[in-house]
Amino acid sequence: MPRIGIIVGSVAQASINRKVASILPSLANDTEFVTIDIAQLPLYDYSLDGNWPEVATDFKNAVESVDGIIIVTPEYSRSIPGALKNALDWASRPWGQNSFNGKPVAVMGASISPVGTAMAQQHLRNILAHFNAPTLGQPETFFHFRADSFGSDGSLQDEAQVAQLTGFLEAAIAHIEHNAPVSVA
Ligand SMILES: Cc1cc2nc3c(=O)[nH]c(=O)nc-3n(C[C@H](O)[C@H](O)[C@H](O)COP(=O)(O)O)c2cc1C
Repeated sequence: MPRIGIIVGSVAQASINRKVASILPSLANDTEFVTIDIAQLPLYDYSLDGNWPEVATDFKNAVESVDGIIIVTPEYSRSIPGALKNALDWASRPWGQNSFNGKPVAVMGASISPVGTAMAQQHLRNILAHFNAPTLGQPETFFHFRADSFGSDGSLQDEAQVAQLTGFLEAAIAHIEHNAPVSVA
């Protein structure tokens, strides 16, 4: 059973990306999901190398402990949020100990705009290519967030959007199982 980490690129309490990410585990069987939080990370500073804060070590260990990662990110100013870039910088260091090296990753994003997150996802793919992280190519998943798609219990009611997320998740799990550094049983 694959063990998949979910990273949300937003630190906002009311994050729509966190809301969408929280639905994913209910759409998959035989998969363990763990949330990898980035909100508590201080700004990366290489002068801390060799004396990292515990929260950064915990984050790096969490990335290394999973078979693959799903990143659900908003787009801020046509790129990824600074908080997500900061988390990726932590994971990539100390030099020579990049925790994303060989780690399969799938990216998606939610926006209040129907065309949102395309540029953010492309920027994220550039970073992940530099990390040598095999990245799911298709389906590209640009989730158009509309509050009226959700029921009062938080469940996603829009059938087309459920199908969109289910298709993404099936492909993401297959990608992670195929590319996981250690085979997943
Ligand atoms: C600083 C900032 C920049 C934004 N830039 C974009 C953008 O480039 N493209 C986009 O689709 N939405 C943009 N938005 C709107 C976001 O889609 C919307 O705020 C969304 O709720 C962000 O996701 P989150 O709630 O998970 O943080 C921006 C929002 C903020 C706060």
